[in-house]
Amino acid sequence: MATRWYDARMPNLDEPSPCLIVIFGASGDLTKRKLIPSLYHLHVTGSLPANCAILGISRTEMSDDAFREKLREAAEKHAQGYTAAAWQKFAGSLYYHAADSTKQTAYAGIKKRMAELSDRHKTGQNSLLYLAMAPHLYEPTIIQFGENNMIVEGKRWCSINRDNPPWQRIVVEKPFGNDPESAGHLNRVLGRVFEEESIYRIDHYLGKETVQNLMVFRFANTIFEPIWNQHYIDHVQVTATETVGVEGRGSYYDSPGGGALRDMIQSHLLQVMAVVAMEPPVSLKADDIRLEKSKVLGAARQHREQDLPDIAVRGQYGPGTIGGRSNPGYRNEPGVNPESQTDTFAAIQVMIDTWRWGGVPFYLRSGKGMARKLTEIVISFKPTPHCIFRDQTQGAGCLPPNQIVINVQPDEGIRIRFEGKVPGSGMKIKDVVMDFDYVEQFQSEPPEAYATLLLDAMRGDQTLYKHRDEIEQAWRIVQPVLDYWDANPQSDLPNYAAGTWGPQASDKMMARDGRQWHNP
Ligand code: BG6
Repeated sequence: MATRWYDARMPNLDEPSPCLIVIFGASGDLTKRKLIPSLYHLHVTGSLPANCAILGISRTEMSDDAFREKLREAAEKHAQGYTAAAWQKFAGSLYYHAADSTKQTAYAGIKKRMAELSDRHKTGQNSLLYLAMAPHLYEPTIIQFGENNMIVEGKRWCSINRDNPPWQRIVVEKPFGNDPESAGHLNRVLGRVFEEESIYRIDHYLGKETVQNLMVFRFANTIFEPIWNQHYIDHVQVTATETVGVEGRGSYYDSPGGGALRDMIQSHLLQVMAVVAMEPPVSLKADDIRLEKSKVLGAARQHREQDLPDIAVRGQYGPGTIGGRSNPGYRNEPGVNPESQTDTFAAIQVMIDTWRWGGVPFYLRSGKGMARKLTEIVISFKPTPHCIFRDQTQGAGCLPPNQIVINVQPDEGIRIRFEGKVPGSGMKIKDVVMDFDYVEQFQSEPPEAYATLLLDAMRGDQTLYKHRDEIEQAWRIVQPVLDYWDANPQSDLPNYAAGTWGPQASDKMMARDGRQWHNP
């Protein structure tokens, strides 16, 4: 019997209530690669409610069986703990309905199918509506939800069942807008139909075990908090690099909404930064945590236009070799403009103007077609105020500063680097590492982030989902850089070979500040 990992994660969780999960955009990649494998894993670990069914909706005509078969193949590839027998049981609660959710005329059919399934699986009126479709379809679909009375619960309505009110929640995928205006607009469109308590803006990085562990690391221990500030920390790096290119998503990635700054930094990396930098929340409640993250993002400095070239770097990979395989370069990927200016690499420096973080730069970088797949947070400490070991530094003058490296993925864990004496006579110093390895310690692989997040949405826990303010603040941080890049095309793109650590300009940005990237 597989472990019910969520019991260990938080012992007092509410059981998820019966519900119908409706995925809009069900023939797409996300459904295949992430949503269904994660729901399957929840099924295998016994974490799904007993009364639960999944209805996929998209325009492509397909029977229930064809849908199941397509997803089975994907689950076999992507799901943790796949077996044919368990899949067969799971597939019994998987259905498909072909419809265009942006059209009024589709809703008689959608509602009929939902009612039928909710009767068959006894899911009551609870529904989790998941938007996994192309982002331009969000708004017309949300409007149709409102106009077709799909939402019958919330503060604005009188509860049908006072003691156990049913719920209808919406999960919205990224990209959440393309800029501050479109994100604000989408928030307003959602707010006209759903209560804030029913809106789940997903960021799968928040569901990663090590990102959650960061809160435990900071707030369940006394030894780190006193040094978690500008007195002791020199700077922080958040890196998320991938070896893959755009993996067939060239036309999306190369559109005005694409690029590494929008795709990764605006969403995932700024969220990770906010968790590193936030003040201790008064409780673990979603609102308390989200308020603290929002305050961090709100305190990020708005840089002046003349400073932007010094605090932001863009890159694009050219031909190169990654892991022994040659890569043709971004501009030769299908769907990409041969003169594209899109950033497949971006690095920015963020200053958080608060008492805790005054003067401590946060460097965020992300890239595709890079040397390694890696997500890590590096907390780099200041040097000792006085170095009595100057003669033992082999001419370097001072000892390397202490570092805490939080490996988000792969090899999830935390490493603390400090100086130690090499055994023997004389005083020879070497950096040594204290290592916490997630898998070794807990004897289990961390769960897929989407599984954690889907379960939370079913339980009504918004802690790992973003509040509207966080999204709007994150856009405010990156937009000046995006505008500057739009107005100033860069002539040296592509400027890094596939399979490397990005453009030289990014190393120069760090060197200008007397620092360097941690490239393991
Ligand atoms: C997604 C981005 O949000 O995150 C993708 O749109 C990226 O471009 C992916 O590849 C990376 O996620 P992970 O979990 O593999 O780091």
